[in-house]
Amino acid sequence: MKDILFVDACMRGPETSRTWLLSQSFLSACQARWPGVNIRRRDLSACSLPPLTAALAEERDRRFLNQPQDPMFDPAREMQGADLVVIAAPYWDLSFPAALKIYLEWASVLGITFHYTREGVQEGLCRADQLVYITTAGGPLEGQNFGFDYVRGLGQMFGISRAHCLSAQGLDIQGNDPEALLAQAREEALQLASRL
Ligand SMILES: Cc1cc2nc3c(=O)[nH]c(=O)nc-3n(C[C@H](O)[C@H](O)[C@H](O)COP(=O)(O)O)c2cc1C
Repeated sequence: MKDILFVDACMRGPETSRTWLLSQSFLSACQARWPGVNIRRRDLSACSLPPLTAALAEERDRRFLNQPQDPMFDPAREMQGADLVVIAAPYWDLSFPAALKIYLEWASVLGITFHYTREGVQEGLCRADQLVYITTAGGPLEGQNFGFDYVRGLGQMFGISRAHCLSAQGLDIQGNDPEALLAQAREEALQLASRL
């Protein structure tokens, strides 16, 4: 394990985000397991990627032919080259913050993260074979973890065949003990890192 891509969609920032806290437990466990591993953070709260319009998509196709090293392709290249992809995103409106969807649109580039074979079959081009999706939710996720379902599906399109979800749920339900729920999830983070 050399390179971990950490896609940080914790929009409340490291100071307040519980998802961020949980992600740090997981990443620390990864560092303990693979000393010297390089963690590349893509901070989506500070990221100004625009939503992909038709004009931008056409521009992207043009640049892919003429300027394939353009920074516009950085999200796709970092996704393609990582050995492990870790995505941290709070549970917002049954999925995740829009900034993550925008990032994933920029990571989905024909010829970098996926392609089609001569027979017309879609094939993933990413190096990683696993991704970890980390989330925390105010209520329960059960049956409605649509953000994870989507990321898992997109990962498969990219050739990342296995996806794991690490979560803490029910943090905003009155009567629950969010600290205890988070502590339990942090324990699960250590276990997950040890069996990847
Ligand atoms: C904009 C927004 C949307 C949310 N939507 C949901 C939701 O649909 N279901 C839910 O259970 N909690 C929802 N929550 C609560 C968060 O999932 C919960 O507080 C989570 O722990 C926040 O993560 P963070 O501390 O990393 O920001 C929402 C919170 C915000 C700010």
